[in-house]
Amino acid sequence: MHVDVGNALSEAATPGVPRDALDRLDDRVADAHRRISEGMDAGEFGYAALNLPETVDAGEIRAAVEPFADADTVLTVGIGGSALGAAALCDALGDDTRTEFLDNVDPAGVRDLLDGIDLSTTVMHVVSRSGTTAETLANFLVVRDAMQDAGVDWTERTFVTTGPDGNLRDLADAHDLPALSVPDGVPGRFSALSTVGLPVAALAGVDIEGVVAGAREERDSLTGSLFDCPAYAYGALAYALDSRGAGVNAVMPYSEGLETFAEWFAQLWAESLGKDGLGQTPVRALGATDQHSQLQLYRAGPRDKMVSLVTLRDRPDVPIPSSDLDGLDYLDGASLGSLLDAEFRATEASLAESGCPSVRVELDALDPESVGGLLYGMEAACVLAGELYGVETFTQPAVEWGKTAARGLLRGDESLPETPSLRVE
Ligand code: PA5
Repeated sequence: MHVDVGNALSEAATPGVPRDALDRLDDRVADAHRRISEGMDAGEFGYAALNLPETVDAGEIRAAVEPFADADTVLTVGIGGSALGAAALCDALGDDTRTEFLDNVDPAGVRDLLDGIDLSTTVMHVVSRSGTTAETLANFLVVRDAMQDAGVDWTERTFVTTGPDGNLRDLADAHDLPALSVPDGVPGRFSALSTVGLPVAALAGVDIEGVVAGAREERDSLTGSLFDCPAYAYGALAYALDSRGAGVNAVMPYSEGLETFAEWFAQLWAESLGKDGLGQTPVRALGATDQHSQLQLYRAGPRDKMVSLVTLRDRPDVPIPSSDLDGLDYLDGASLGSLLDAEFRATEASLAESGCPSVRVELDALDPESVGGLLYGMEAACVLAGELYGVETFTQPAVEWGKTAARGLLRGDESLPETPSLRVE
């Protein structure tokens, strides 16, 4: 991962970060890095996720999924951090194996998905760290029922990843299902590079060893200075810009394969840093599509944003055929890739010209090493930002509140606080 923060430092940027402020912030980055390193060394909850490039066993994961290598469709049943890491990896790097993700419990969506797949050639991966999440367990029961109706032995077509306790662990034990364990100390949204995110990626043909190698390279670049470490440069700049008014972080990859990465990032950033009245609101965008919609707001709307532009240094290309249309000479000899790159550069320049701060994140290519480095780098950036904000990065009390309340309602507990209402019908 390569990071360029120049357009956040420019005097024209509003908000912007003066260079001397960045130098001062670097002292705090050094302190935060010491704290992060101690946490990693001790395998403390959350910090342990940054050790995954060393601790994950890709061979164990490959062996676990090997019996399912013949599946036409791989269906992940999980939600939040239990689904988004695998989805980001598969969308960026997966091959033809069909990967589906059942996270929401919208009946129409679940029905459509089940109607569209052949359950006899589907393998289901049920993922829940706690093993108790209502949406995941409900969706599992629905898919299991559909498999039984289709005459499929679900116990032959299901494997799980879960923690030591909970309903899912009990289920795996009761039916002798193949079960991987969520590693100790790794919270859901930091688990992409573990037994949570990698099994389905492996089934989708992703070179998971390459992903881990890329993450390891990024891990080796964690130093005590934001000027030497792309991940810390990103985390520190996002924090510094937010402190100066950029409460919105629009993440705009110029690669369709990274569209789900933006979704993964949004969860990581929001659920980890949104605490104690602090945190930056992540927004998802896609280049060049959103140049034709959201860019208007980024350039000319309220000065409360930074834009994270993510691009590739190299990409497979499609030439643009020569045309017999008047006025299209600028496309002669061009390709879709060169057009997308030109759109990227134009957006970056447009933001700079309007004084909207942006940070450029570049990958060498959409390959396993680069994507592994990107996921790891953003996790490290998030952990650093959490230290700078002084929040508890690895907890999610607001999410847990909602989970408990929903379960309570289903049990008939109507003691939720009153929601103000003014009906207009
Ligand atoms: O990051 C998190 O902790 C959450 O997004 C969880 O991943 C999500 O709530 C699902 O939880 P579980 O894996 O326990 O089913």
